[in-house]
Amino acid sequence: MLLFTYLVVILDSVLTVADGSTTCTNPRIRRSWNVLSKEEKLQYTAAVKCLFETRAQGTAYFPAAQTRFDDFASLHINQTSPRDAKNITGNGGFTGPGIHLNSVFLPWHRYFMWIYENTLRDECGYKAAHPYWDWSVDTSEYGSSLPKSQLFDSVYGFGGGGKAKAPRENLGSTPGHKVSVLNCVDDGPFAGLNITFGPGPNLDQPTPRCLNRGFNVSLFDASAQWQKNAVPLLQETDYFTFTHKMSYPLTGAPFGVHGAGHFGVGGEMINLWSSANDPMFFMHHAQVDHMWSMWQGMSEANAKAFNGPISPNGTGLSTLDSPLYMTPFLAPDLPVKAVMDTENKDGSGILCYKYEDNPAEKIPAYEGPENARI
Ligand SMILES: *[C@@H]1O[C@H](CO)[C@@H](O)[C@H](O)[C@H]1NC(C)=O
Ligand SMILES: *[C@@H]1O[C@H](CO)[C@@H](O)[C@H](O)[C@H]1NC(C)=O
Ligand SMILES: *[C@@H]1O[C@H](CO)[C@@H](O)[C@H](O)[C@H]1NC(C)=O
Ligand SMILES: *[C@@H]1O[C@H](CO)[C@@H](O)[C@H](O)[C@H]1NC(C)=O
Ligand SMILES: *[C@@H]1O[C@H](CO)[C@@H](O)[C@H](O)[C@H]1NC(C)=O
Repeated sequence: MLLFTYLVVILDSVLTVADGSTTCTNPRIRRSWNVLSKEEKLQYTAAVKCLFETRAQGTAYFPAAQTRFDDFASLHINQTSPRDAKNITGNGGFTGPGIHLNSVFLPWHRYFMWIYENTLRDECGYKAAHPYWDWSVDTSEYGSSLPKSQLFDSVYGFGGGGKAKAPRENLGSTPGHKVSVLNCVDDGPFAGLNITFGPGPNLDQPTPRCLNRGFNVSLFDASAQWQKNAVPLLQETDYFTFTHKMSYPLTGAPFGVHGAGHFGVGGEMINLWSSANDPMFFMHHAQVDHMWSMWQGMSEANAKAFNGPISPNGTGLSTLDSPLYMTPFLAPDLPVKAVMDTENKDGSGILCYKYEDNPAEKIPAYEGPENARI
């Protein structure tokens, strides 16, 4: 037993068995940023900074890549559909299939996050599970606001919204939502670092420029609250409706909770293609994934639910065998079913983590015998 436990620890909680699948015996616990110690916060941001200071491995695919962090940013641009994106005035150049506003949005980003978490651990000495950003506690619902978030602390966070620069358009930002401010992040661990790809679909040449943000406090406050925005979303019963309402404008709110994090932080984060240029992207998408995990935990049906179109224009029909495209230098392509269960209970998947809910998050009252969480 002792030997077994030891092996599990060395092998990072994931044991590969003969048929190539894995069993998850000791899931990593992803926790809210706000419950991490100062030391844990510094360990995380130091590991991300290490990705910025390590050479890219994907230059055979994306020759302009400079850093290991670029390997992730470039893949996100690539999978958002760069080939079709040259004409950004026609449907935002966004003709898919891609990874947004379609069925694979949640599983693709879940897999992407898992690879990022593993890379922080395997290549940059990070020891814990990936943390998440519980947006709701940074709203007026909890007597706070976006700029007061612990995430934007200049020492134990990601730096703030930056100081104003001349406004300019953010090429390739989500159609209909042009950025009015682009501020260089000038404090915190990422101050002075340049990003490489984008803005928008650009993967052809490096365009080194500052990491930029532009807070939209009111949009965020109206779209990222727990009772008002997250609870109704968790009560959706159809997978694709749940997915869709995370991103689209909702009645009474400018955006769903996924849109709230992107448009609230602003700058690079607003960009459909190059949003993964901001390390905040991964904090935000950990919480998007947490929301999906909560939703899956609400019933047996939700746990297995997957449906929706292949393309954001509504065409095609996805299945659990639909592919999640990565790149050879990051991770293999896998079918959706490989990432449906974060704890891989039936042994056919690859993941091994779960979320520790933030005490501030209130799971919605749900009237139904199936709901095991209540
Ligand atoms: C993404 O990059 C791969 C490898 O270079 C390429 O084959 C593929 O066409 C790209 N995907 C899109 C949607 O452009
Ligand atoms: C871009 O898309 C718009 C709208 O579909 C179209 O009118 C325009 O001709 C396209 N421009 C180019 C250069 O393809
Ligand atoms: C929807 O997008 C797909 C590509 O993802 C394209 O093949 C198809 O023609 C489009 N359909 C419509 C109705 O625009
Ligand atoms: C960042 O990019 C700007 C604009 O291209 C350049 O002037 C500056 O030297 C770069 N900074 C670093 C640290 O590479
Ligand atoms: C914030 O978003 C709203 C839309 O909800 C928009 O009208 C406003 O101009 C945005 N403010 C900034 C500073 O971008």
